Amino acid sequence: MTMEYLDPAQVDKRKNTSVSEKLEILIGERDIAQKVKEMAAKISSDYAGRHLSIVFISNGAIIFAADLIRSIEIPLRIDSIRTSSYSGEFSTGNVKIMSQVKLDIKDRNILVVDDIIDTGRTIVQVVAHLSSFAPSDIKTCALLDKPSRREVPFVPDYIGFEIPDLFVVGYGLDLDEYYRNLPHIAVIKT
Ligand code: IMP
Ligand code: MG
Repeated sequence: MTMEYLDPAQVDKRKNTSVSEKLEILIGERDIAQKVKEMAAKISSDYAGRHLSIVFISNGAIIFAADLIRSIEIPLRIDSIRTSSYSGEFSTGNVKIMSQVKLDIKDRNILVVDDIIDTGRTIVQVVAHLSSFAPSDIKTCALLDKPSRREVPFVPDYIGFEIPDLFVVGYGLDLDEYYRNLPHIAVIKT
């Protein structure tokens, strides 16, 4: 299935033409919803009876985290952290932590939630940063994983879908900050 997403401001800026970009759905809404519920059930049982503090990586993980936490059935606290590394479709490889967590995470069990693991640099950097606050445990969770793109060794604890080396948008993932509001995961056709 193909859909068109026409945003004149974006098309002007990126291509300087009036041609819209074509998107092809890679993972549909229902498949995402089912997977998120399965992940939440696993997290609920793994953390039963323990403190859980979720730190999601903003902005990309905002939609995934919002759905995930509403299906987790144990008490939890949430916070977010901002990073930046991508410019357009290309990772700059230079991950910056742009904000701090406000939760006291010392001696807590932390679950870091991201939208996608690509080179691995962002999540590795965030885990290292959070570790400096002496939590008792840090695990990681991402909706999508592109293991073939890894530049630093990293295996997430909870993963939704493994995908091939494609640049995807939607369900929180962006291209130059656009497309985060799509309800599914899509690939931009060139
Ligand atoms: P990494 O540091 O290379 O693992 O990149 C992780 C971050 O880059 C994620 O948190 C995403 O925000 C972004 N990213 C990686 N791959 C994609 C993609 O295919 N589409 C949109 N954003 C991506
Ligand atoms: Mg991003």
